[in-house]
Amino acid sequence: MGEINTNVAEDETFDLSKAESILEKYKHIRGSLIPVLQAIQFEYGYLPEKVIDFVSGELNISVNEIIGVATFYAQFHLQQRGKHIIKACSGTACHVKGAKQIVEKLSEKLEVHVGDTTKDKLFTLEEVACLGACSLAPVIMVDEDVYGQLSHNTVGNVIDGIKS
Ligand code: FES
Repeated sequence: MGEINTNVAEDETFDLSKAESILEKYKHIRGSLIPVLQAIQFEYGYLPEKVIDFVSGELNISVNEIIGVATFYAQFHLQQRGKHIIKACSGTACHVKGAKQIVEKLSEKLEVHVGDTTKDKLFTLEEVACLGACSLAPVIMVDEDVYGQLSHNTVGNVIDGIKS
């Protein structure tokens, strides 16, 4: 155990037990960083800083290297994400039908920038390329549900519906 692990152990507010179980399983397997990060993200929903420190100590890989890997792959998230993920389409079909106004309205209503999570951790707002529902443009997706033919005036109702 290195210094980093000792620091983590001192933080009594963070539950490292899931990370410990994952590392117990993988730490003797060479080249296991990606499956470890996948398992951690599955358990925590993202890659918490304290867990990255812990992984660094256990696998003897620098924090910078782990962050480099995590930022290279789009599947990994370094920030805590919301309970609901909103993907606002900015593809061509949606763009010509007012996608920009949809994102602006969402951003204003949720009080977040694209890429950020609301203070109550309920929503994360993301912008993505084509969602494959161009005939319904402009489109957003919330978790697994697609909402189409939206307008600046109606997109807020989607959020209100989910909240209620
Ligand atoms: S461009 Fe938005 S769904 Fe295809």
